[in-house]
Amino acid sequence: MNREDFPMLQSNIIYFDNGATTFKPKSVIDATSYYYSEISANAHRGDYEISYKVDVAYENTRKKVANFINADREEVIFTSGATESLNMIATGFFKPILEPGDEILLTLSEHASNVLPWFRLAKECGAIIKYIELDSNLHVTVSNTMAAITPNTKVISIAGITNVVGDERPLKEIISYAHHNNIFVVVDGAQSVPHMKTDVKELDCDFLVFSAHKMCGPTGVGVLFGKKELLEVLEPINLGGGMNESFDNIDSIYLKELPTRLEAGTPNIAGVIGLSAAIDYLNKIGMDNIKLYEIKLKKYLINKLKNIPHISVLNEECDSGIVAFNVDGVFPQDVAYYLNKYNICVRAGNHCAKILKNATGIKNTVRVSLYFYNTESEIDKFVELLSDKERIVREMI
Ligand code: ALA
Repeated sequence: MNREDFPMLQSNIIYFDNGATTFKPKSVIDATSYYYSEISANAHRGDYEISYKVDVAYENTRKKVANFINADREEVIFTSGATESLNMIATGFFKPILEPGDEILLTLSEHASNVLPWFRLAKECGAIIKYIELDSNLHVTVSNTMAAITPNTKVISIAGITNVVGDERPLKEIISYAHHNNIFVVVDGAQSVPHMKTDVKELDCDFLVFSAHKMCGPTGVGVLFGKKELLEVLEPINLGGGMNESFDNIDSIYLKELPTRLEAGTPNIAGVIGLSAAIDYLNKIGMDNIKLYEIKLKKYLINKLKNIPHISVLNEECDSGIVAFNVDGVFPQDVAYYLNKYNICVRAGNHCAKILKNATGIKNTVRVSLYFYNTESEIDKFVELLSDKERIVREMI
């Protein structure tokens, strides 16, 4: 990794909002621009050379994503992002099979994308939403998961790593126990796939979703992984071009095989090609190295924040680069505004995890979310700015 690879890092910006989106290396920018400037045809439709080149690049990316998460090629569906993927799973797979009284198990620390599709589904099917109790560190434990499961539990949908607490969930154990009880498990990988090695075969998850833009890739493209036999019965939400084999009247609609039957319409081709370059970039660094580096950096930050009496950290004990905190008596958005004066980008507020307050009693926080291109010297500057409370109060307006 070289910070020179990132045009956005060439100014004096300190970017600590990688949970929201990440910066893109030049290779990703070049890959999307290659599509628009050299092979700008549609996918899966043309009988000419540039269209063939698009098909090769698009389908090679599918293979690359499959290798990246250890899935099979036809188990990788391109979507607009993790949000669309989760909505497709809830509506396309679970809506036809859930019955009144069935239980959907979530946690209070999930992002809106992994809550709202289930809320709607529960209303539509008469299903019941339940939550796995978080422990005193706001983590999900296997025993709390086991305690929350009942004979009516049909699906558990949880993040691999959450976007505010930043805890890494014991997915393998949860999934194994869930499967012994005939429960499906959906993993929201938006905050985990960009930061650690993910192996869907080893996890044995039924579905996994993630977004390209949180892993150095373009916005507007994401992945829905599903086990093949489950995707075969997932009803397409969108019908249209590219995904049908033939149709003549309302009784004669024949759809294509996976994966194209779930990709109606012209896809985000430039985004997919950019994702390919992003995966190359991450693989070059190594996902295990990324994880280790971020945890080291996070510990460095926590150790410094702990020495500042007016700062309280929400999630000291977590295995990721996410740190949520408050400056006593100062509204989080004011802290973000103050830091912005020094070119430091953090996120402040509820971070779309709007029911987390029911577990913590804290509505808003300031969040630092690190990535592999952040450095200790950036943290030093950040901590120095936060260590003087009078200065924050003086300069926040
Ligand atoms: N899910 C993104 C975040 O946590 C937007 O900031």
